[in-house]
Amino acid sequence: MKTIRNIIAITMMLAASTVAYSQTYTPSEGNIQARKDFVNERFGIFLHWGIYASYAQGEWYLNTGKLNKDEYAKAAGGFYPIRYNAEEWVKAFKDAGAGYVTITSRHHDGFSMFDTKASDYNIVKATPYGKDVIKDLDEACLKEGLKLQFYYSILDWIREDYPIGNSGKFSGRKGDHPDYGHYFEFMKQQVKELLTQYHTRALWFDGYWDHSKDAIPFDWRMPEFYEYIHSINPDCLICNNHHRVPIDGEDYQTFERDLPGQNTTGYSEGQEVSDVIPLEMCQTMNNSWGYAVADQNYKSVGEIIRLLAQCVSMNSNLLLNIGPQADGELPATALERLKGVGQWMRENGESIKGCGPGPIGDQEWGVTTAPVGGGKTFYLHIFKSPGAIIEIPVAKKDRIRSISALAKGSSLNYKKVGEKLFITLPTDLPEDSDFVIAVTKK
Ligand code: GLC
Repeated sequence: MKTIRNIIAITMMLAASTVAYSQTYTPSEGNIQARKDFVNERFGIFLHWGIYASYAQGEWYLNTGKLNKDEYAKAAGGFYPIRYNAEEWVKAFKDAGAGYVTITSRHHDGFSMFDTKASDYNIVKATPYGKDVIKDLDEACLKEGLKLQFYYSILDWIREDYPIGNSGKFSGRKGDHPDYGHYFEFMKQQVKELLTQYHTRALWFDGYWDHSKDAIPFDWRMPEFYEYIHSINPDCLICNNHHRVPIDGEDYQTFERDLPGQNTTGYSEGQEVSDVIPLEMCQTMNNSWGYAVADQNYKSVGEIIRLLAQCVSMNSNLLLNIGPQADGELPATALERLKGVGQWMRENGESIKGCGPGPIGDQEWGVTTAPVGGGKTFYLHIFKSPGAIIEIPVAKKDRIRSISALAKGSSLNYKKVGEKLFITLPTDLPEDSDFVIAVTKK
């Protein structure tokens, strides 16, 4: 009874926190297919990589360190990621079970990590390395079958044409002749390059919140920007980390460091959850986006797996971040975590990929997932043991074909009494993990 009450409460909560958006934008067939692929993958890797990795203080260091932009730019002159091997990166992501990679093409510091004609402050022209790291990543993704997506900052801490907002005030800009129209054209040129030089599935924008405190609401001209992008490639997915309800033209909704509908970070206040477009949560593996030498506060493999399962149970993807080092390597701890996630995914990935919320809402012991199109099987993700026997509500008419541990395939004892299903858990449940049980109906 208590469980059923819980379910009703959770269902009502979900109904209250989702919202239907009327969009005038009609996505292309290819776009709808790209959304489906995106949802099926459920797990992506976020990469924050730029010249800031040299300072090893995270991607905001130009701002948080109150550095002068010209002094900061000297990191470009020494940027030579000698150990960068795109194929090794992508293989590690694929082995972990990820389906896509979203990498910073240009962050708030204004440095472009790709070959661009719109600014010389880029990886090819301004570093001794002189090669387009994104091109290598694109080729590796293509080879391994992962999708490539780009983070792109719409705010800039060094350009004079960008109207200064809440951040980037100490970089030494004059700031006396902002010209958003000019800056907008610059962004258009760069996104066109991103769309035409690489096999780009999605553009992920960030920085909208930089003008949240303006006395006169700032017009970012996003609908026009999105139309421009979709005129070049209608299939390109657009996402914007603006922490607000989706804007017309966006193809999926992202939540920064919070599950959809939650607001533990303070970023997601009033960010209602779309019931129209796909959802994604982005989260750090430690506490930093860009490489931070002092931050060894990594989440355990178990924590990552449970977060992924939680995301899927809330109809969301997980975009898990890694901050590569300046030498081009992924931090050893991040690699070790990826390996652990991969091991679990090989045995339990069926309960994640192509799945969405299961038949019952959050429980004390964990969550449930089920294939998006329905089917006879659903999955119980046991995060912590509720005792020797687990009790779940089922329909009276349901008949059970099998109940088994997904990883080992071993059958579990169960008993169905009316609308209740009692499952006997193994005595040796793994610690700090997610033990998945597949329940198959007849
Ligand atoms: C924030 C930060 C940024 C980071 C992003 C990732 O918006 O400004 O540094 O890239 O979150 O979600």
